[in-house]
Amino acid sequence: MPSSEVQSPPLRPLPEPIDKSQPLTALAPMQDVTDMPFMTVISEFGSPDYFFTEYFRVHEHSKLEKHILQAITENTTNRPVFAQLIGEKIPEMIRTVKELVKHPIAGIDLNMGCPAPKVYKKNVGGGLLRDVQKIDQLLGALREEIDGLFTVKMRIGFGDTENFEAILALINKHQIDLLSLHGRTVKEMYRSEVHFDAIAFAVKAVNCPVLSNGNVTSARRAKEIIEETGAAGVMIGRSAIRNPWIFQQTREVLQGKKITQISLTEVYHYIERLYHVTKKTDLIERYHVNKMKKYLNFIGQGVDPEGSFLHEIRRVQTEKEFFNVCEKHLLNTDKWFADEPFSGVIARPNCETPLAKNLS
Ligand SMILES: Cc1cc2nc3c(=O)[nH]c(=O)nc-3n(C[C@H](O)[C@H](O)[C@H](O)COP(=O)(O)O)c2cc1C
Repeated sequence: MPSSEVQSPPLRPLPEPIDKSQPLTALAPMQDVTDMPFMTVISEFGSPDYFFTEYFRVHEHSKLEKHILQAITENTTNRPVFAQLIGEKIPEMIRTVKELVKHPIAGIDLNMGCPAPKVYKKNVGGGLLRDVQKIDQLLGALREEIDGLFTVKMRIGFGDTENFEAILALINKHQIDLLSLHGRTVKEMYRSEVHFDAIAFAVKAVNCPVLSNGNVTSARRAKEIIEETGAAGVMIGRSAIRNPWIFQQTREVLQGKKITQISLTEVYHYIERLYHVTKKTDLIERYHVNKMKKYLNFIGQGVDPEGSFLHEIRRVQTEKEFFNVCEKHLLNTDKWFADEPFSGVIARPNCETPLAKNLS
């Protein structure tokens, strides 16, 4: 190989993954989901290499939100946590970075993908993707401030991919250390096909590792997507709520091992654990049951193809009714949890709507 092609090691190496010989895995940041209790549960079932917090909102009077900070200060997962920010004004962003670096973070992650209209209308999150010049200034200022790892999570464009190449060039210009790329535009929200060709394009265009994000629904799909895109790894969101074993299973499939199948009894124990860690003493029972339904929306997609489990869960009001339905469908059965979500069973909500605000 000519010496010009020999890759020099990155200036700022990423934290060591669980298996150094395999592609990376990360849990996608999810507002109202990826808090400290949820990350703890995920780590008990098989950690990803990296965690990302929900986004810290940055504005004139913003302070680090305590419950998000808790995922960093009380991290017992044994894995690194990146702190995600959403905002646009440089002085405010720098002030927040200065506060965050006092804590044990793996790095700072910038959100350039949130598709909620109330967010992008303020030109933050996915809204930034419309303004290449603004991105240039923001990345430049943050890069100058951040000595450690500075990562970006973004979509492939706002309404189309017109700015995509220019933004990828900025990822190189400002020496971003890791790019998590959700292969949809902002306007495509969460349900369209994922543009894996755009992810493959980015992998070739940027100098940093790329995590392929969007519809990584199973360990088998993770392997296929890594092969198809050439990505350095995968970032998994909704499918990790459904199946917290997905990171361990991905390591298995990448190592050429048989994937551990999950019984419905194990799913019951996952739900029980989730119930326990998310229970706050001051939360009224009915509200907690309703909060659980939001996780169950995803978990139920792997239980039965008819969606009977979810149908019944959506109707319970009390803890007793909740566990009665779980016991009926998940215990004393020899059925397995499905690797892929059943296509006819739709999770609601399936977007960045805070779980707690979506009480059904
Ligand atoms: C409930 C929910 C909340 C989310 N919150 C965030 C967030 O705070 N920051 C972010 O960058 N992306 C957020 N996302 C987007 C996910 O990180 C991810 O990009 C998207 O869900 C696609 O990946 P998936 O198909 O594996 O779920 C959220 C997604 C969901 C479903």
